[in-house]
Amino acid sequence: MLASLHSPFFLLLLQLKSNQHITMNILLLGSGGREHAMAWKIAKSPKLSTLYVAPGNPGTATVATNLPIAADDFLNIKKAVLEYKIDFVVVGPEDPLVKGIVDFFAVDTELRNIPVVGPDRVGAQLEGSKDFSKQFMFRHNIPTAGYLSVTADNLTQGINFLKTLPAPYVLKADGLAAGKGVLILNDLDETIAELKAMLDGKFGAASKTVVIEEFLDGIECSVFAITDGKNYIILPEAKDYKRIGEGEKGLNTGGMGAVSPVPFADADFMRKVEERIIKPTVDGLNSEGIVYKGFIFFGLIKVNGEPVTIEYNARMGDPETEVVMLRIKSDFVDLLEGVAYGNLNEKTIEIDPRSAVAVMLVAGGYPEEYKKGDDISGLESVEGSIVFHAGTAQKDGRIVTNGGRVMAISSYGNSKTEALAISFDNAQKIQYQGKYFRSDIGFDL
Ligand code: AMP
Ligand code: GLY
Repeated sequence: MLASLHSPFFLLLLQLKSNQHITMNILLLGSGGREHAMAWKIAKSPKLSTLYVAPGNPGTATVATNLPIAADDFLNIKKAVLEYKIDFVVVGPEDPLVKGIVDFFAVDTELRNIPVVGPDRVGAQLEGSKDFSKQFMFRHNIPTAGYLSVTADNLTQGINFLKTLPAPYVLKADGLAAGKGVLILNDLDETIAELKAMLDGKFGAASKTVVIEEFLDGIECSVFAITDGKNYIILPEAKDYKRIGEGEKGLNTGGMGAVSPVPFADADFMRKVEERIIKPTVDGLNSEGIVYKGFIFFGLIKVNGEPVTIEYNARMGDPETEVVMLRIKSDFVDLLEGVAYGNLNEKTIEIDPRSAVAVMLVAGGYPEEYKKGDDISGLESVEGSIVFHAGTAQKDGRIVTNGGRVMAISSYGNSKTEALAISFDNAQKIQYQGKYFRSDIGFDL
């Protein structure tokens, strides 16, 4: 009789051989499409014992056990970690990182030996403060746009800096502003007025400092790495589509779809990205003594063939994760383990050569006012795609809308066109009032 990979006998053999835990209990924090995609991939691992997601969504409930705990409710997370004998925690969104979940674990006598995949509060400032991340990039000669950080104290200097720049003008709230804190404006007077409004609290405390940046003209993509603080592994790159309207027009959203691979991120470009951006970032964090074990999201722009860093995030992208997870062929838990236990140098990644795409179904009106609580039907008729839930909820045994971005329809294909045709076909089969999606995802690739 052949022992299946999941059989207790086989796992015991492995356990004896490597003399360490083989199956692990993992707690994943978050509740979006990103977390459903991660949970879907983690759940496939032979190294997994039980996956818990806090708080999760109806999608994560199909592959894991949801716990009704908010992702930033550290005290209840602690209780769950002890009660469910969690081996390590994976943090999906930035919020718990910026609030210091890693630091919280590090100083707690009962938690300090339980690794958290994510940077500490200082490391998370790469995302949490634009001023911090620009200073970091300049310290380590990482290519990025020229800038000046402005507060109420040096407003005149800020206005003078703006006057030296050609239009368009880029203003960024220093802190987290729910994806709304970046303004790109053509008119100088309007820019100066907006700068003053931001400093006056347009985005609350987040815009008490404003970063003025040179405008970069090029095509954007997202590159991801995981690091154990010393070693790193580059994950598949992706391109996301941020605007609500077709042709990248209209208001910014959390992301309307994603495609991987990105043809313009060819081997030569990726070599430059690694040498000039990824390696100096990981080495820079390490040399500054910043504890960074987790994901680094490099928001890049290709300008005249050269990669330039627009921003960092301390987490994976959404909806990029809904394509990246499809393209990771190797065991994702093995990679996470490398991050958690600091032996990422012993791990390798295998990438699926196929294309993966995600088409986001959103609520009518999003990203402005939208309704929640509408019945979703047709999920059972989806064929050939993986539906990752984002803003959904379970109500009286039915799945209803519960957010602006409702679900991501992810598909594989031998080409992006083939994968998109499958996602669009399934996007038609799912119904709810006000459903909207962009039917031009990948149009520019
Ligand atoms: P960020 O939050 O810094 O990623 O900015 C949000 C979006 O604004 C980016 O994805 C770009 O599309 C745009 N953006 C940010 N900085 C610049 C820049 N310096 N030049 C051109 N576009 C930018
Ligand atoms: N899709 C962009 C982000 O997650 O920030």
